[in-house]
Amino acid sequence: MGEGKGYGKVILINEHFVVYGIPSIVSAIEKATVARVEREEGSGWVLDDRRPATPGYKEEKLEQQRDSIERIIRAVGVDLSRTSIKITLEGDLVAASGIGASAASCVAIARALSEEFNLSLTDDQINQIAYEGEKAYHGNPSGVDNTAATYGGLLWFVRGKPIERISIRRPVEIVMANTGLVANTEAAVAGVRERRQKNPAKYERIFKEAEELAYIARKALVDYDLRTVGILMNRNHELLQAIEVSCKELDFLVELARENGAYGAKMTGGGLGGNMVALTPGRELQERVARAIRREGFEALVTRIG
Ligand code: MEV
Repeated sequence: MGEGKGYGKVILINEHFVVYGIPSIVSAIEKATVARVEREEGSGWVLDDRRPATPGYKEEKLEQQRDSIERIIRAVGVDLSRTSIKITLEGDLVAASGIGASAASCVAIARALSEEFNLSLTDDQINQIAYEGEKAYHGNPSGVDNTAATYGGLLWFVRGKPIERISIRRPVEIVMANTGLVANTEAAVAGVRERRQKNPAKYERIFKEAEELAYIARKALVDYDLRTVGILMNRNHELLQAIEVSCKELDFLVELARENGAYGAKMTGGGLGGNMVALTPGRELQERVARAIRREGFEALVTRIG
Protein backbone atom coordinates (compact mmCIF):
# COMPACT_ATOMS: atom_id res chain seq x y z
CA MET A 1 0.00 0.00 0.00
CA GLY A 2 1.21 3.52 -0.80
CA GLU A 3 0.26 6.54 1.25
CA GLY A 4 0.63 10.28 0.68
CA LYS A 5 -0.42 13.57 2.18
CA GLY A 6 -1.28 17.03 0.81
CA TYR A 7 -1.87 20.14 2.91
CA GLY A 8 -4.84 22.46 2.78
CA LYS A 9 -4.02 26.09 2.08
CA VAL A 10 -5.08 29.62 2.73
CA ILE A 11 -4.35 32.49 0.35
CA LEU A 12 -3.59 35.57 2.44
CA ILE A 13 -3.05 37.98 -0.44
CA ASN A 14 -4.00 38.06 -4.13
CA GLU A 15 -6.05 35.08 -5.23
CA HIS A 16 -7.28 35.69 -8.78
CA PHE A 17 -4.62 38.37 -9.38
CA VAL A 18 -2.07 35.54 -9.13
CA VAL A 19 -3.53 33.99 -12.29
CA TYR A 20 -2.12 37.01 -14.19
CA GLY A 21 1.40 36.81 -12.76
CA ILE A 22 0.87 39.15 -9.81
CA PRO A 23 2.64 37.97 -6.63
CA SER A 24 0.58 36.20 -3.99
CA ILE A 25 1.11 35.09 -0.40
CA VAL A 26 -0.15 31.65 0.54
CA SER A 27 0.25 29.39 3.54
CA ALA A 28 -0.35 25.72 4.10
CA ILE A 29 -2.63 25.03 7.07
CA GLU A 30 -2.38 22.34 9.72
CA LYS A 31 -5.00 20.17 8.03
CA ALA A 32 -4.34 17.66 5.29
CA THR A 33 -5.84 15.08 2.97
CA VAL A 34 -4.32 11.61 3.12
CA ALA A 35 -4.53 9.24 0.14
CA ARG A 36 -3.96 5.49 0.18
CA VAL A 37 -3.39 3.46 -2.97
CA GLU A 38 -3.81 -0.32 -2.87
CA ARG A 39 -3.32 -2.67 -5.79
CA GLU A 40 -6.11 -5.10 -6.57
CA GLU A 41 -7.02 -7.68 -9.22
CA GLY A 42 -8.38 -6.35 -12.51
CA SER A 43 -7.76 -3.10 -14.29
CA GLY A 44 -8.52 0.62 -13.88
CA TRP A 45 -9.17 2.43 -10.61
CA VAL A 46 -11.86 2.90 -8.02
CA LEU A 47 -12.25 5.66 -5.48
CA ASP A 48 -13.44 5.61 -1.90
CA ASP A 49 -13.75 9.24 -0.85
CA ARG A 50 -14.06 9.38 2.95
CA ARG A 51 -13.03 13.00 3.44
CA PRO A 52 -15.21 15.11 5.69
CA ALA A 53 -16.97 17.57 3.37
CA THR A 54 -19.31 20.51 3.02
CA PRO A 55 -22.70 19.03 2.06
CA GLY A 56 -22.98 18.86 -1.72
CA TYR A 57 -19.25 19.41 -2.36
CA LYS A 58 -18.38 15.86 -3.36
CA GLU A 59 -21.42 15.46 -5.60
CA GLU A 60 -20.79 18.77 -7.33
CA LYS A 61 -17.11 18.03 -7.93
CA LEU A 62 -17.44 14.35 -8.86
CA GLU A 63 -17.01 14.78 -12.59
CA GLN A 64 -14.03 17.12 -12.18
CA GLN A 65 -12.55 14.74 -9.60
CA ARG A 66 -12.76 11.76 -12.00
CA ASP A 67 -11.12 13.80 -14.76
CA SER A 68 -8.46 14.93 -12.28
CA ILE A 69 -7.61 11.37 -11.19
CA GLU A 70 -7.30 10.29 -14.86
CA ARG A 71 -4.92 13.19 -15.48
CA ILE A 72 -2.83 12.32 -12.40
CA ILE A 73 -2.55 8.66 -13.39
CA ARG A 74 -1.48 9.69 -16.90
CA ALA A 75 1.05 12.19 -15.58
CA VAL A 76 2.53 9.65 -13.14
CA GLY A 77 2.69 7.17 -16.02
CA VAL A 78 1.35 4.04 -14.32
CA ASP A 79 -0.23 1.40 -16.52
CA LEU A 80 -3.55 0.24 -15.10
CA SER A 81 -4.43 -2.14 -17.93
CA ARG A 82 -3.19 -5.18 -15.98
CA THR A 83 -3.59 -4.06 -12.42
CA SER A 84 -6.31 -2.18 -10.67
CA ILE A 85 -5.91 0.32 -7.84
CA LYS A 86 -8.19 1.42 -5.08
CA ILE A 87 -7.71 5.05 -4.04
CA THR A 88 -8.96 5.99 -0.57
CA LEU A 89 -9.12 9.63 0.48
CA GLU A 90 -9.18 10.54 4.18
CA GLY A 91 -7.65 13.09 6.52
CA ASP A 92 -8.77 16.04 8.62
CA LEU A 93 -9.06 18.63 5.83
CA VAL A 94 -12.71 19.34 5.13
CA ALA A 95 -13.43 19.12 1.41
CA ALA A 96 -14.82 22.63 0.81
CA SER A 97 -14.23 25.53 -1.54
CA GLY A 98 -11.44 28.01 -0.87
CA ILE A 99 -9.31 25.79 1.33
CA GLY A 100 -7.28 23.96 -1.30
CA ALA A 101 -9.18 20.68 -1.03
CA SER A 102 -8.70 19.73 -4.68
CA ALA A 103 -4.98 20.53 -4.65
CA ALA A 104 -4.46 18.67 -1.37
CA SER A 105 -6.09 15.57 -2.83
CA CYS A 106 -4.06 15.80 -6.06
CA VAL A 107 -0.81 15.99 -4.09
CA ALA A 108 -1.87 13.19 -1.74
CA ILE A 109 -2.80 10.87 -4.64
CA ALA A 110 0.42 11.63 -6.55
CA ARG A 111 2.48 10.87 -3.43
CA ALA A 112 0.57 7.64 -2.72
CA LEU A 113 1.05 6.45 -6.33
CA SER A 114 4.74 7.29 -6.13
CA GLU A 115 5.10 5.16 -2.99
CA GLU A 116 3.00 2.22 -4.22
CA PHE A 117 4.84 2.00 -7.57
CA ASN A 118 8.31 2.77 -6.11
CA LEU A 119 8.79 5.84 -8.29
CA SER A 120 10.66 8.01 -5.74
CA LEU A 121 9.16 11.16 -7.22
CA THR A 122 10.68 14.40 -5.96
CA ASP A 123 8.57 17.22 -4.51
CA ASP A 124 9.01 19.15 -7.74
CA GLN A 125 7.68 16.20 -9.74
CA ILE A 126 4.76 15.73 -7.31
CA ASN A 127 3.94 19.43 -7.65
CA GLN A 128 3.99 19.20 -11.45
CA ILE A 129 1.72 16.14 -11.44
CA ALA A 130 -0.70 17.79 -8.98
CA TYR A 131 -0.79 20.82 -11.29
CA GLU A 132 -1.94 18.53 -14.12
CA GLY A 133 -4.64 17.17 -11.78
CA GLU A 134 -5.70 20.68 -10.82
CA LYS A 135 -6.46 21.53 -14.46
CA ALA A 136 -9.61 19.42 -14.15
CA TYR A 137 -10.90 21.72 -11.41
CA HIS A 138 -9.53 25.11 -12.48
CA GLY A 139 -9.06 25.05 -16.24
CA ASN A 140 -5.97 27.23 -16.19
CA PRO A 141 -4.67 27.18 -12.62
CA SER A 142 -1.93 29.53 -11.49
CA GLY A 143 -0.36 26.68 -9.53
CA VAL A 144 -0.57 28.44 -6.17
CA ASP A 145 -2.76 25.81 -4.52
CA ASN A 146 -0.80 22.71 -5.53
CA THR A 147 2.45 24.49 -4.60
CA ALA A 148 1.24 25.15 -1.04
CA ALA A 149 -0.21 21.63 -0.81
CA THR A 150 3.13 20.12 -1.85
CA TYR A 151 5.74 22.19 -0.02
CA GLY A 152 3.85 23.49 3.01
CA GLY A 153 4.86 26.60 4.96
CA LEU A 154 4.33 30.27 4.18
CA LEU A 155 5.18 31.12 0.59
CA TRP A 156 5.63 34.00 -1.82
CA PHE A 157 4.24 32.61 -5.05
CA VAL A 158 4.53 34.14 -8.51
CA ARG A 159 3.23 32.14 -11.42
CA GLY A 160 6.04 30.42 -13.34
CA LYS A 161 8.75 31.55 -10.91
CA PRO A 162 10.57 29.55 -8.23
CA ILE A 163 8.82 29.80 -4.85
CA GLU A 164 10.31 31.85 -2.05
CA ARG A 165 9.74 30.93 1.58
CA ILE A 166 8.67 33.70 3.94
CA SER A 167 9.99 33.14 7.45
CA ILE A 168 8.19 34.77 10.32
CA ARG A 169 9.04 34.98 14.01
CA ARG A 170 6.38 32.50 15.08
CA PRO A 171 3.20 30.99 13.65
CA VAL A 172 0.07 33.17 13.71
CA GLU A 173 -3.42 32.02 14.64
CA ILE A 174 -6.12 32.38 12.01
CA VAL A 175 -9.78 31.48 11.72
CA MET A 176 -11.29 30.23 8.52
CA ALA A 177 -15.06 30.30 8.15
CA ASN A 178 -17.02 28.29 5.64
CA THR A 179 -20.02 29.90 3.93
CA GLY A 180 -21.26 26.37 3.18
CA LEU A 181 -21.57 27.35 -0.49
CA VAL A 182 -19.81 25.12 -2.99
CA ALA A 183 -18.17 27.35 -5.58
CA ASN A 184 -16.86 26.75 -9.08
CA THR A 185 -13.34 28.18 -9.28
CA GLU A 186 -13.15 27.78 -13.04
CA ALA A 187 -16.30 29.91 -13.47
CA ALA A 188 -15.02 32.54 -11.00
CA VAL A 189 -11.71 32.83 -12.87
CA ALA A 190 -13.51 33.01 -16.23
CA GLY A 191 -15.76 35.80 -14.90
CA VAL A 192 -12.75 37.92 -13.93
CA ARG A 193 -11.21 37.41 -17.36
CA GLU A 194 -14.39 38.52 -19.09
CA ARG A 195 -14.88 41.63 -16.96
CA ARG A 196 -11.22 42.56 -17.29
CA GLN A 197 -11.53 42.47 -21.07
CA LYS A 198 -14.57 44.73 -20.90
CA ASN A 199 -13.07 47.26 -18.45
CA PRO A 200 -9.32 47.26 -19.09
CA ALA A 201 -8.60 50.64 -17.46
CA LYS A 202 -10.47 49.85 -14.24
CA TYR A 203 -8.87 46.42 -13.96
CA GLU A 204 -5.40 47.75 -14.65
CA ARG A 205 -5.74 50.14 -11.70
CA ILE A 206 -6.95 47.37 -9.40
CA PHE A 207 -4.26 44.93 -10.52
CA LYS A 208 -1.55 47.53 -9.99
CA GLU A 209 -2.69 48.15 -6.43
CA ALA A 210 -2.87 44.39 -5.77
CA GLU A 211 0.74 44.06 -6.88
CA GLU A 212 1.97 46.88 -4.65
CA LEU A 213 -0.01 45.53 -1.74
CA ALA A 214 1.68 42.11 -1.99
CA TYR A 215 5.17 43.59 -1.50
CA ILE A 216 4.06 45.67 1.50
CA ALA A 217 2.32 42.64 3.04
CA ARG A 218 5.40 40.51 2.63
CA LYS A 219 7.53 43.06 4.45
CA ALA A 220 4.92 43.40 7.21
CA LEU A 221 4.90 39.62 7.69
CA VAL A 222 8.69 39.47 7.90
CA ASP A 223 8.65 42.39 10.39
CA TYR A 224 5.87 40.59 12.29
CA ASP A 225 3.78 43.75 12.02
CA LEU A 226 0.48 41.89 12.16
CA ARG A 227 -1.67 45.02 12.47
CA THR A 228 -0.41 46.13 9.06
CA VAL A 229 -0.93 42.64 7.64
CA GLY A 230 -4.54 42.79 8.84
CA ILE A 231 -5.14 46.19 7.25
CA LEU A 232 -3.70 44.92 3.98
CA MET A 233 -5.93 41.84 4.09
CA ASN A 234 -8.92 44.16 4.52
CA ARG A 235 -7.83 46.20 1.52
CA ASN A 236 -7.23 43.02 -0.47
CA HIS A 237 -10.81 42.00 0.25
CA GLU A 238 -12.01 45.32 -1.18
CA LEU A 239 -10.02 44.72 -4.35
CA LEU A 240 -11.55 41.25 -4.64
CA GLN A 241 -14.99 42.80 -4.17
CA ALA A 242 -14.15 45.26 -6.93
CA ILE A 243 -13.43 42.38 -9.35
CA GLU A 244 -16.73 40.81 -8.22
CA VAL A 245 -15.57 37.51 -6.75
CA SER A 246 -16.92 38.02 -3.23
CA CYS A 247 -20.55 37.43 -2.25
CA LYS A 248 -22.87 38.54 0.53
CA GLU A 249 -22.17 35.50 2.72
CA LEU A 250 -18.41 36.11 2.50
CA ASP A 251 -18.86 39.83 3.17
CA PHE A 252 -20.99 39.01 6.20
CA LEU A 253 -18.39 36.66 7.69
CA VAL A 254 -15.60 39.16 7.00
CA GLU A 255 -17.54 41.89 8.84
CA LEU A 256 -18.36 39.56 11.72
CA ALA A 257 -14.70 38.61 12.18
CA ARG A 258 -13.63 42.26 12.16
CA GLU A 259 -16.37 43.28 14.64
CA ASN A 260 -15.06 40.61 16.99
CA GLY A 261 -11.53 41.92 16.94
CA ALA A 262 -9.80 40.21 14.00
CA TYR A 263 -6.80 42.26 12.81
CA GLY A 264 -8.05 41.76 9.26
CA ALA A 265 -10.35 39.47 7.28
CA LYS A 266 -10.97 38.64 3.66
CA MET A 267 -12.37 36.02 1.36
CA THR A 268 -9.86 33.35 0.43
CA GLY A 269 -9.56 31.19 -2.68
CA GLY A 270 -11.84 31.36 -5.69
CA GLY A 271 -14.67 33.16 -3.87
CA LEU A 272 -18.39 33.26 -4.81
CA GLY A 273 -18.85 31.08 -1.73
CA GLY A 274 -16.26 28.90 -0.05
CA ASN A 275 -14.16 30.30 2.79
CA MET A 276 -12.99 33.50 4.41
CA VAL A 277 -9.87 33.98 6.54
CA ALA A 278 -9.42 36.18 9.58
CA LEU A 279 -6.08 37.10 11.16
CA THR A 280 -6.49 36.50 14.89
CA PRO A 281 -3.14 36.47 16.72
CA GLY A 282 -3.30 34.69 20.10
CA ARG A 283 -5.55 31.83 21.16
CA GLU A 284 -7.98 34.09 23.00
CA LEU A 285 -8.80 36.31 20.02
CA GLN A 286 -8.92 33.27 17.77
CA GLU A 287 -11.48 31.59 20.04
CA ARG A 288 -13.56 34.75 20.31
CA VAL A 289 -13.82 35.11 16.52
CA ALA A 290 -14.47 31.38 16.03
CA ARG A 291 -17.24 31.47 18.66
CA ALA A 292 -18.92 34.46 17.00
CA ILE A 293 -18.90 32.64 13.65
CA ARG A 294 -20.29 29.42 15.12
CA ARG A 295 -23.02 31.36 16.94
CA GLU A 296 -24.24 32.52 13.52
CA GLY A 297 -24.44 28.89 12.39
CA PHE A 298 -21.29 28.73 10.25
CA GLU A 299 -18.39 26.29 10.52
CA ALA A 300 -15.18 27.83 11.85
CA LEU A 301 -11.75 26.27 11.53
CA VAL A 302 -9.00 27.37 13.91
CA THR A 303 -5.48 26.84 12.63
CA ARG A 304 -2.16 28.65 12.15
CA ILE A 305 -0.03 29.99 9.34
CA GLY A 306 3.74 30.13 9.09
C1 MEV B 1 -7.96 29.43 -6.08
O1 MEV B 1 -7.61 28.86 -4.82
C2 MEV B 1 -7.02 30.52 -6.43
C3 MEV B 1 -7.34 31.26 -7.73
O2 MEV B 1 -6.43 32.36 -7.78
C4 MEV B 1 -7.16 30.40 -8.94
C5 MEV B 1 -5.72 30.06 -9.26
O3 MEV B 1 -4.80 30.69 -8.76
O4 MEV B 1 -5.52 29.13 -10.08
C6 MEV B 1 -8.74 31.84 -7.74
